[in-house]
Amino acid sequence: MKILVADPVSEAGVALLRQEHKVDVKLKLPAEELIRLIPAYGALVVRSETKVTKAVIEAADCLKVIGRAGVGVDNIDVEAATRRGIIVLNAPEGNTVAATEHTLAMMLALARNIPQAHHSLAQGEWQRGKFTGVEVRGKTLGILGLGRIGTGVARRGAAMEMRILAYDPFISEEQAKTLGIELTELEEILAQADFLTLHLPLTAETRQLLNAEAFQKVKPGIRIVNCARGGIIDEAALARAIEAGQVAGAAIDVFETEPVRPDNPLLKLDRVVLTPHLGASTAEAQIGVAVDVAEGILLALRDEPVLTAVNIAPVPGHVLKVIKPYLDVAEKMGCLAIHLADGRLTEVEVEYNGEISEVETRMLTTAVLKGIFNPILQEPVNYVNAPGVAKARGIRAREVKSKEPANFANLITVRVRTDKGRHLVAGTLFGKEEGRIVMIDGYRVDVAPQGWLLLGPHTDKPGMIGKVGTILGEYDINIAGMQVGRTETAGTNIMAVAVEADVPTPVMLKLKALEGILGIKLVNFNAG
Ligand code: NAD
Ligand code: MLT
Repeated sequence: MKILVADPVSEAGVALLRQEHKVDVKLKLPAEELIRLIPAYGALVVRSETKVTKAVIEAADCLKVIGRAGVGVDNIDVEAATRRGIIVLNAPEGNTVAATEHTLAMMLALARNIPQAHHSLAQGEWQRGKFTGVEVRGKTLGILGLGRIGTGVARRGAAMEMRILAYDPFISEEQAKTLGIELTELEEILAQADFLTLHLPLTAETRQLLNAEAFQKVKPGIRIVNCARGGIIDEAALARAIEAGQVAGAAIDVFETEPVRPDNPLLKLDRVVLTPHLGASTAEAQIGVAVDVAEGILLALRDEPVLTAVNIAPVPGHVLKVIKPYLDVAEKMGCLAIHLADGRLTEVEVEYNGEISEVETRMLTTAVLKGIFNPILQEPVNYVNAPGVAKARGIRAREVKSKEPANFANLITVRVRTDKGRHLVAGTLFGKEEGRIVMIDGYRVDVAPQGWLLLGPHTDKPGMIGKVGTILGEYDINIAGMQVGRTETAGTNIMAVAVEADVPTPVMLKLKALEGILGIKLVNFNAG
């Protein structure tokens, strides 16, 4: 698999990727060039400079994953990637401290006019009176967005004896209280804050949250810090509010257009402190995000679950520990179920029995859907797009849970319903990680879901296995294993024959024609 690194990331991450794949580092690619090159790559690594647009995603042929070495994924068309089953992952933790500390540095630089004083001194001046600042102690710090960085800023602000007010509709009062932070409404914060700092993602809702109307409502003399995303502030309105004296100053690290355009009105103002998107630019953070994103990409390319994927429902680490050993067998059960099914698939039900029913199992159900769709669809189906594929085809997927152990400590039962009937496959783990199919359509079996499997319900009479074995032998098809399962009602058995190669159509027809065979199916467990 080839990996394209399109923005500068630390060598530590690139070296990790090179241990398993070929990596090309091609920086500052014009949009058309990226579109031309992308079909050759299975993974793409970016920071915020490269825009991964719908056109780039649609041009991709074998792209499995886009890794963002940082937090914000607003430079990636996540919706387009999800539709194409491409995982988008980020590195959410690696630069939190760097961005938190940069915010504090910007706030203090703004309060004490440090860049302006430095510039004046470097010009040969010695102006002590001109740069008198303000203290932060005792001032109100308003924080918009109380996530990782917002919380870090709140803690540090409190240590400097600031009063902290925060606005974040997605966290609970209790959560804020445990952090010693007062949650309040946006308008309250605008009216009370002496310093206001933004730590929100850029979304349709937060775009231009601080606009001309908001600047009318702020406490006169407020100082504003933005180390989150440029589009959250209307820059022209901010410049006007600073010129009018309503806002005393601003410290800005992120801009609507990056690199900043020469006509950006903030560039002309004295009372601003500007940095060129340096929030995450520390040696530690750059290594942190590059290693985190590389680890995520390697997992994604190995088809293993990725905790940092932004377009897959997040699975907490402790839940993943429980469900991870079952992912493979769940997918194989889906594969087996779709081979059994005749007719138009309308419903998939996945029942969880035993301890496994006590954790969040959505990812396992997605694995079943992945197993169902991959053998029958041209487009690759994975953890990202499997639920969407089911929905788009009008197939109802539901989960049923029961703590009853049902003969096994943990049992997963997949029931598929078509317009012609129903089929059932049940599976579990033997030991810690050996997947086993233990029931097929009411027949008890013990089948390791690997390679090719011939399934043949047949009448319970002597010689049936011999007949099948003879035909396979005639065509030089080696049998790797054989099982006969008894149905609960006497009269019919099912044979499960593991074969070492694909079974050509003429052989399948001969097997089907055998007297006593009630239907024969070939399942390819490798087609995932
Ligand atoms: P996070 O996801 O941990 O926190 C974001 C918070 O914003 C969440 O608590 C969420 O509930 C809240 N939020 C979302 N929509 C909101 C809304 N409409 N109103 C109020 N609150 C809302 O993210 P984080 O890691 O703390 O990052 C915060 C921002 O900083 C992001 O925009 C990220 O891209 C940016 N960032 C910038 C730099 C830099 O170099 N300047 C570095 C890292 C992160
Ligand atoms: C981020 O979202 O992580 C930051 O903006 C940092 C970066 O782009 O490097």
